[in-house]
Amino acid sequence: MASREEKSGSSGSAGKLGSGIQGLDVLLEGGFNAGRVVLVLGEPGTGKTILCSQFLHYGVTQKDEKGVFIGINESKSRFLSEMLELGMDFAKLEKDGKFAYVDATEVRRIPEQARVGRIPVGGRELGIVNLMDLIQEAIEKVSPKRVVVDSISDLIFRFPRIEERRPVVLDIVEALEATGATSLLTSELLSTGESRTLQPEEYLAEGVIILRQLRKGIRGIQILKMRGSKIDTRPRPYAIRDKGIEVYATEELYE
Ligand SMILES: Nc1ncnc2c1ncn2[C@@H]1O[C@H](COP(=O)(O)OP(=O)(O)OP(=O)(O)O)[C@@H](O)[C@H]1O
Ligand SMILES: [Mg+2]
Repeated sequence: MASREEKSGSSGSAGKLGSGIQGLDVLLEGGFNAGRVVLVLGEPGTGKTILCSQFLHYGVTQKDEKGVFIGINESKSRFLSEMLELGMDFAKLEKDGKFAYVDATEVRRIPEQARVGRIPVGGRELGIVNLMDLIQEAIEKVSPKRVVVDSISDLIFRFPRIEERRPVVLDIVEALEATGATSLLTSELLSTGESRTLQPEEYLAEGVIILRQLRKGIRGIQILKMRGSKIDTRPRPYAIRDKGIEVYATEELYE
């Protein structure tokens, strides 16, 4: 059987960072644009976390590019064991000083009202402030080339109105851009179909990738946009196997 390295042997062309998933790099014409923030939008259980982990794992092991995973959805121990199942030993990479997992699960639990000094601050805003601090800290400590924030759904759904949500997402995107790293940001896909409503994250990210479970056993990936790149925007089939996500870049997806 081919090793992970051979299977994900994408190199990433000039100014691009290989995603670690060969078929995805074909769709992306080489990979993600360096320094940009790309949104990975997907239905629950479609492999958002796995895709982001492959991006980081590939960077560290094949390109000597440090990675940081800012986890809002799951504890570090769960992340480490789930990814180890798929052949990605992040605990080892962390020991070698090439990777850091930032446990940001606390930002979901901040009460509705809190205080900073004597000033009461809405709990919703505080969650965002904390996330930005965590991003900053991790960057200063590790100086990563690749950063993942997974996922912002719980944080931004506290802001029910779109006008409120937009500046929050913008803050997060700008904080990531300011790091100079190439970042993936995940969020839950809220609606599908022809008349679906665009989410504010989609306007604000440089690129958007959508993951969907179409029917039982049929999964589809689509690159909705990637500013400054010539890309294949047709939906393509993908699967999650024992080494992670495989994208079938030349196969058709029949809905
Ligand atoms: N070895 C494996 N073989 C096949 N499928 C797997 C394997 N390991 C995990 N999966 C699938 O991966 C999916 C979970 O992937 P992941 O956690 O990345 O999804 P997610 O989009 O981040 O989910 P959530 O919305 O819950 O955060 C599950 O649907 C699971 O069935
Ligand atoms: Mg996940």
